[in-house]
This record gives sequence, C-alpha cells and structure tokens, in this order.
Amino acid sequence: MKIIIANLKMNPCSEKEAEELFRAYQKDKEGLANLDLFVAPPFLYLQKAKDFGLQVVAQNCFYENQGAYTGEISPLMLKDLGVKGVILGHSERRALGETEELIARKVRAVLKEGLIPILCVGEKKEEREKGLEEEVVKSQLKKIFENYQEEIRKLIIAYEPVWAIGTGQFCDPQEAKRMQSLIKEFLLVELQLKISELKILYGGSVDSLNISLFLGEENIDGALVGGASLKKEEFGKILKIANSF
Ligand code: PGA
Repeated sequence: MKIIIANLKMNPCSEKEAEELFRAYQKDKEGLANLDLFVAPPFLYLQKAKDFGLQVVAQNCFYENQGAYTGEISPLMLKDLGVKGVILGHSERRALGETEELIARKVRAVLKEGLIPILCVGEKKEEREKGLEEEVVKSQLKKIFENYQEEIRKLIIAYEPVWAIGTGQFCDPQEAKRMQSLIKEFLLVELQLKISELKILYGGSVDSLNISLFLGEENIDGALVGGASLKKEEFGKILKIANSF
C-alpha cells in the first residue's frame, strides 16, 4: 500500500477553502482502500481535516512538550489531538534557519511521543552539480540519528531534492530509486537503527503525469505532494493512481 502525504504548506487562506479541499479529499478517498493518505494542513485546520475523517500530520512542532515557548506547538498537544506524525526538516524550514541540531531535537521529541517523524532530506542544485548528493543526504541523516539507540516503531523519510521542490523539474525516477536505496542502507546498516517500519517517499514536483513513474519503483513507498495537493481534480487523479499500485 502506497503512502501519499498532502503538504498544504501555508495554504489555503480561509477556513472555508480548507473545508472545500478536505471535502474533496474525503470524496476522492472513498473506495480507495489500497492507499494510506495523510493530510498536512496548517495547524489551524488540523481539527477540521480530522472532522472530514482524514488522517492528519503536522507541518512542524517544537521539541519541548510544555512551557514558556511563545508561538510553539508541542508533540504532546499534537498527539492529544489525534495527529499521527510531523513533517520535519523540510527544506523550506531549513531555509528559514532550522539547523540540523534543532531538527534532531524535534525528531527525537516526536519519537518520544510515539508520533511518526516524516523527515525530509535532499540536496540543493549546486550540491548535485558537484556530485555531492550522497554525501549531503548521509550527513543530514547522520546528524539526526547518530547514536540513536531506541527502537523506532515507524519512520518515514521523504527524499526531496531541493531543486525539484515547487519547480516542475522532477527528479529522474531511477535516480530517486537509487537515493532511496542509499537512504535505507545508510539508516539500517551504517547507523544500525532499529526501525520496525521504515517507509521512504519521494517529493518534488509530483503530479498526476509523473506519479506512476515514482510509485512504479519498488523501493519508493509513496510521495509527498505539495503544489498538486491544492488542485482538487489533479490530486484526485493522483490518489486514484496511487491506489492502483
Ligand atoms: P511540490 O512540493 O510538490 O510543490 O514540489 C513538495 C514538498 O515541498 O513537499
């Protein structure tokens, strides 16, 4: 069963539009039993998405559970609301200044609460041009999981080359597959993490025309979809295709 995560980012701009979008997702998901769909709306709309019977994940969180941290939302609060996981390390948050150290603290806090981290990794354009993509991704994973001894129930990694996000320029599926294998091996063999369920997704300009190229690769467990998740018809097509794998 493939996983599709809709990352709405900072969209839509009203509760009414959010409702319309969730209603469409709910309708499209009906009858698609061979598909694990998660929706990642802004915090404000998490409950609303749940009201439509959708599985929800958050787009961010803090690393402490409670206290004097103005403006932050904790893993414990998310868990209490019935949120299943949290997207962390997204390149858009890294660009806003999130360091590996901060991301590592968040990932650990999320794991501690039994939520699923959806950790995004990926190289920038200039890094790929220099052939550094493997090194970059390994270093991102290492900084977060080195010496992590505890058992991990479920971990989702999204390989998202930064140059492919929101650009319409998607990664070659063979190349994405190569990176998935590398990630898997690095986590399980080199870092020796104990993970009961590891899923690796691709993200970056996924749409209804290219999704089957990615899902057709055996190592690719699903997709993190940004822009296309805001277009009702387009996303409906994506879900139907994903359900057929
Ligand atoms: P995109 O975004 O599908 O618009 O490229 C993907 C993401 O940021 O997760």
